[in-house]
Amino acid sequence: MTDAAHDRLLIIDFGSQVTQLIARRLRELNVYCEIHPYQNVTDDFLAEFTPKAVIFSGGPASVVHADSPRPPMGVYDLGVPILGICYGQQVMMQMLGGLVEGGKISGGGGTAEFGRAYVEPQNALPLLNGWFDKGPEQVWMSHGDHVSRLAPGFEVFGTSPNAPYAITANQTRNFYAVQFHPEVHHTPKGATLYENFVRLAGFKGDWTMGAYREQAIAKIRETVGDKKVICALSGGVDSSVAAVLIHEAIGDQLTCVFVDHGLLRQGEADEVTAMFRDNYNIPLIAADESELFLGELDGQSDPETKRKIIGKLFIDVFQKYAGEIDGAEFLAQGTLYPDVIESVSFSGGPSVMIKSHHNVGGLPEKMGLKLVEPLRELFKDEVRALGRELGLPASFIGRHPFPGPGLAIRCPGEITRPKLEILRKADAVYIDQIRKHGLYDEIWQAFVAILPVRTVGVMGDGRTYDFACALRAVTSVDGMTADYYPFTHDFLGETSTRIINEVPGINRVTYDITSKPPGTIEWE
Ligand code: XMP
Repeated sequence: MTDAAHDRLLIIDFGSQVTQLIARRLRELNVYCEIHPYQNVTDDFLAEFTPKAVIFSGGPASVVHADSPRPPMGVYDLGVPILGICYGQQVMMQMLGGLVEGGKISGGGGTAEFGRAYVEPQNALPLLNGWFDKGPEQVWMSHGDHVSRLAPGFEVFGTSPNAPYAITANQTRNFYAVQFHPEVHHTPKGATLYENFVRLAGFKGDWTMGAYREQAIAKIRETVGDKKVICALSGGVDSSVAAVLIHEAIGDQLTCVFVDHGLLRQGEADEVTAMFRDNYNIPLIAADESELFLGELDGQSDPETKRKIIGKLFIDVFQKYAGEIDGAEFLAQGTLYPDVIESVSFSGGPSVMIKSHHNVGGLPEKMGLKLVEPLRELFKDEVRALGRELGLPASFIGRHPFPGPGLAIRCPGEITRPKLEILRKADAVYIDQIRKHGLYDEIWQAFVAILPVRTVGVMGDGRTYDFACALRAVTSVDGMTADYYPFTHDFLGETSTRIINEVPGINRVTYDITSKPPGTIEWE
């Protein structure tokens, strides 16, 4: 847990798919919050966390089942406002003496309700300020069970056709409970409801990036003292922001290591080293290890083998350079909040491994280093805001994510230097096109993959037998799911012509229109 310098809101997670959205809505209101799975929330935890308010998330379980998840009874005695959402409403009612009726899903006779619904007002409630100005409000419902009798002290403030207790409250105790999901887009006034809730709870809205920067710097200084820190720089936004923040805190006690594995994009190694050396004067070891990586990858075509080789070599190389820095005790990482949220899994088993992601996991233990992770509390867009606050160039902050294994996973089949050269050129033309058309910021990630097939073409009067490539562009919020970007045919035609004209070695261009799932963003 973090320091309590700002007011904190606790979100108890019961396993809803959209719990993270609750946190997003609150952060947008400059309210600091943390998500913790219900299993971890004990009375001791509550005493240490000292939340100023609590939100119970939704979840897939049914409170009518005896072993369904519960918060500790002590949460109701903290004397702070509580908001229960969907399952959170039902669990609150059940624990405080009301009744929940099982619906179709949990084996009861009640009606389930999924999708859009309209709530009618019953009585005025400060939580609903700004609601019902124009009649019934649209909300998003997703529940099998429903509350059939209110707990003592609660009144009803809104009803929908299938949820007679859509909005309920015990105003004396400041407990609020709604059957719908105010955090999702399909509840248009949801953000207002959260805003009213945090105002009722007395939050000052003091969670700003400026304040965060000051606190993070103080914390880094306290943790690190006069010891040295090393940071593996990938050129991506997260590790860059972490490095600049840590440098601001401890100056030259930080050394960055940037490994060029020969799988970077055109001009990337120079851009990254120039930015860190010239703009920030941060001690930087730029290690050209392309011979080593490309040598070991020679002849390898299996995606997982390629990933494993790169991951292992990266650790070896990083260790070698880090060993040259006397007295380094800390390793800095740009870990983000979505990576550390321990979400509640009801599936029981471990999830299927799709790809072994490359990062520096395992390194700290191997090298006996302690971790500094100053971005652990932030979402991606907050990292970008912090980067702006720290003065990183806008062009750098807005860069699309680039995977650790680099172009290796955009070159299915064997990796050769000539193929990588072709890929770099084609990728540069594609990104140039996207920028020229003003589309870069609308797209989560865009790149070219060079395919392991040659096709026949005709250029001028001659036959060509060159590689085919695939353009990829996706929109996404977090990389977990993605849609292909709907370029116009004009854009695709113009880009194809430019690539074929400007990039020797490619004579066919395709556009990848697969979403994720079922595809993944990268090709390997
Ligand atoms: P996939 O291909 O799994 O990618 O849909 C999701 C996001 O993760 C990035 N990615 C990686 N990032 N190391 C990274 O740092 C990796 O090994 C790795 N593999 C995929 C990918 O670029 C996309 O943003």
